Amino acid sequence: MSSSNTRLGTVLLSLTLISWIGGYECLVNSKCNLEGKWKNELGSIMTLSPLDKNGFFTGTYHTTVTANSNLVTKESPLMGNLNVFTADTQQRVFGFLVNWTFSNSVTSFVGQCFVQKDGTERLQTTWLLRGSAATEEDNWSQTRVGTNVFTRLN
Ligand SMILES: *[C@@H]1O[C@H](CO)[C@@H](O)[C@H](O)[C@H]1NC(C)=O
Ligand SMILES: *[C@@H]1O[C@H](CO)[C@@H](O)[C@H](O)[C@H]1NC(C)=O
Repeated sequence: MSSSNTRLGTVLLSLTLISWIGGYECLVNSKCNLEGKWKNELGSIMTLSPLDKNGFFTGTYHTTVTANSNLVTKESPLMGNLNVFTADTQQRVFGFLVNWTFSNSVTSFVGQCFVQKDGTERLQTTWLLRGSAATEEDNWSQTRVGTNVFTRLN
């Protein structure tokens, strides 16, 4: 009885270790780990750092479009998180925030990575852009919503 319990315990521990190490390997090596350069349908480019083991990443965002066409764009920093709850690395969801360095505004993105039949990855995202209202009475006017699809560059 007790020896079979011990054996069961050993098997469970081994399985846990294997899946834990396997999960980390997938995060580092697999499709949809987000690291690298991505381009959206408007030509904006973002570069994402390697993820840490909790799925945190940082990066830069170079937009080709602005809500105010008088602005001169500058590469802006971002930080985000890939949710690693699921073992299926090809179905992961993520979110990140871009801190625009050329205007008083921020954009939060949420999205999911999908691997296509030919193996290419696509990031389906939805964003909220928050601009600055001169007064609280104007608060209502300063949030925009949109979508972007990113594909991997190179
Ligand atoms: C956010 O952008 C501002 C400039 O608008 C910059 O001064 C600040 O360092 C940025 N923050 C981060 C975390 O990059
Ligand atoms: C402030 O504006 C946002 C949209 O920009 C809106 O969703 C929110 O309800 C507004 N807050 C108030 C108190 O009206």
